[in-house]
Amino acid sequence: MDKQIVTIERHIVEQERSYPGATGVFSNLLYDVALAAKIIARETTRAGLVNVLGRAGSVNIQGEEQMKLDVFANETIIRMNSFTGRLAVMASEENDDIIPITDYEPGKYVLVFDPLDGSSNIDVNVSIGTIFGIYRRLSDAGPGTLADCLQKGRDLVAAGYVIYGSSTMMVYTTGQGVHGFTLDPSLGEFLLSHPDIRVPSKPLYYSVNQGNEPYWSEGVRRFTHWLLGPRDGDGKPLSGRYIGSLVADFHRNLLRGGIFYYPADSKRPSGKLRLLYEAIPLAFIAEQAGGYASDGRRNILDIQPETLHQRTPLFIGNRDLVEKAEEFIAQYDK
Ligand code: AHG
Ligand code: MN
Ligand code: MN
Repeated sequence: MDKQIVTIERHIVEQERSYPGATGVFSNLLYDVALAAKIIARETTRAGLVNVLGRAGSVNIQGEEQMKLDVFANETIIRMNSFTGRLAVMASEENDDIIPITDYEPGKYVLVFDPLDGSSNIDVNVSIGTIFGIYRRLSDAGPGTLADCLQKGRDLVAAGYVIYGSSTMMVYTTGQGVHGFTLDPSLGEFLLSHPDIRVPSKPLYYSVNQGNEPYWSEGVRRFTHWLLGPRDGDGKPLSGRYIGSLVADFHRNLLRGGIFYYPADSKRPSGKLRLLYEAIPLAFIAEQAGGYASDGRRNILDIQPETLHQRTPLFIGNRDLVEKAEEFIAQYDK
């Protein structure tokens, strides 16, 4: 048993040590997210047994039917973070507007999140996830504002995701590499299982919903054709893997190498995925792991969000594959 046992709490404290003057507030915020993840994990692992399957009978601002687990996850994260004094404001995929901290002393951080990603997979027992990003507030005092939430990915102080799959994992970065923790349900602890994750230079997978091919642009179609050819590598074709949960598709490609893309198309000129709490946090993680994320023309981290729920095309994974997509789009999609 040569492997040291490092809990996520211990890892966060060790990371904090490299920030002189750190007050521990940021570390405690990361614990809060980890705790919320444990609570959501407990519900997802028994979703079939307790009353969290199926539709909540409500629709979110995206016009999407909310599942009970969407609502449960959303309420859990909001409740876990409303009375800690660490946040000034939150923004969630499931809430039309920002969630400013008004009933408690507002803190100095901002939390943006997709509480339950891959909702269409909840009732069919396929991996789902949670995605989050943390910023420092820009406003001086009082409850946080919309401008506090609409920050570029370059200004993130942390980003991460939780994947509720064959095991529950939490993966996060504070700008010092990407680290993965696996939940040991018998201990209720996230234990360090994937230190310093780096995208393998040789990709294995490509992930795209090929059902949308009839609506793709010329550039995306040609890129996909190139992707399935010998490419410049050893000629071994990539394997197609797409399960419709961004977090699960991203996580697999992060560990094994590959590209996920959800391009703009004639049905969705801005793409389907949301910039603020899906693309940006995962772009920060991808870049920290040696990968890259683009909207097809520019780095996701350089895009200034204009509205909370704005959508973006997303190409994310091995840098050379994402840059190739940008080349085809620049050449064929004026
Ligand atoms: P969410 O469940 O948070 O709305 O996200 C679903 C997203 C993302 O997880 C996934 O990659 C994508 O929707 C799948 O979309 P398609 O079913 O159109 O392929
Ligand atoms: Mn999502
Ligand atoms: Mn969601």
